[in-house]
Amino acid sequence: MHVAVLANLKKNAPTWPGMAPDRWDDLDSEETIQGIMSALESQGHRATFLEGDQTLLDHLRRLRPDICFNICEGHFGDGREAQVPAILEMLRIPYTGSQVLTLALALDKPMTKRVLTYHGLPTPPFQVFERIGEPLDPDLQFPLFVKPSREGTGMGVSAESIVQNEQQLRTRLEHTFERYDEPALVERFIAGREVTVGLVGNLRSPVARRLPEDEDAPRILRGLHFFPPLEVDMTAYPEEEGGVYTSRMKTELAHDFHYHCPAPLSADQVEDLNWLAAAVFRVTGCLDVARVDFRLDADDNERPYILEVNPLPGLYPGYSDLCVEAEAGGWTYEELINRILDLAVERYELE
Ligand SMILES: Nc1ncnc2c1ncn2[C@@H]1O[C@H](COP(=O)(O)OP(=O)(O)OP(=O)(O)O)[C@@H](O)[C@H]1O
Ligand SMILES: [Mg+2]
Repeated sequence: MHVAVLANLKKNAPTWPGMAPDRWDDLDSEETIQGIMSALESQGHRATFLEGDQTLLDHLRRLRPDICFNICEGHFGDGREAQVPAILEMLRIPYTGSQVLTLALALDKPMTKRVLTYHGLPTPPFQVFERIGEPLDPDLQFPLFVKPSREGTGMGVSAESIVQNEQQLRTRLEHTFERYDEPALVERFIAGREVTVGLVGNLRSPVARRLPEDEDAPRILRGLHFFPPLEVDMTAYPEEEGGVYTSRMKTELAHDFHYHCPAPLSADQVEDLNWLAAAVFRVTGCLDVARVDFRLDADDNERPYILEVNPLPGLYPGYSDLCVEAEAGGWTYEELINRILDLAVERYELE
């Protein structure tokens, strides 16, 4: 098949004076594109890279690929990760991974948390701030955690995200508004282990984007493949990181990543995390691949809390969480990439 690999490369991103230095931290590197293209070629596919910017429409019309391998994060706007899928829908070109609604939803952490809460899925209690002076909900107790509502790759996340009192809260809100110009998400700070679960596949019917109301109903996981969970080894990082998975750890220190994979968890804990990951995948409408991030509450028997779902998880060979997890599960990078493609090929009945 002719596969167009669609991504936003860091080196192709627009720049302007006064731009925040972390502005494009979530965009992809050439190594990732090269890795994906070689993986696809190793299975006999023809792969062409296209930058997911304004030139995409013309390039796609000319190239007419059979399918696109989409990992575009986009540049601008609150639905930026959904823009390329919207174009592909318009051109009726098949593509890998989640669709418009899911990608726009997952980019917005508060919106996603509202959906999770509706379904009774555990996510830290929260409040969204649009202005610095808004009163804090009296139900929220310090310490709290402040982060931008619509960023990834730890952008805006550092030890200073943990706030202990009103004054620290207001200072951090100011920083977040100034730097990211978007609402800030303030959550209960969950002290505890940091675990992420990667999965590939698609749920088989019946999937009505909701969970069975009956607690004893069988847990529907059919069609999904879970990789061993990864735990970030916070003890290996300087104290300045504050025990959280910071932007520094995901960028500057990314090549010196300290983790346990498989995470040292009991079989019951893994089963619970997998079920929660499947539930999140289901209610947010993910397709083909996702990674769900958790914290295990040290003050409540390691009760898992869902922090977010990543329907476009990083695919940097050998380093991104999902790639490490797949490897620990006995999959090569080539197998991971081609499975994602094959899942989409199956959905579109291209073969
Ligand atoms: N409520 C919380 N309590 C404790 N730590 C938190 C909380 N929310 C976020 N964190 C810490 O901040 C990190 C980044 O948060 P989150 O996963 O929401 O952001 P992200 O930048 O979108 O991540 P990704 O790189 O996975 O896209 C988490 O991995 C965790 O270490
Ligand atoms: Mg995360």
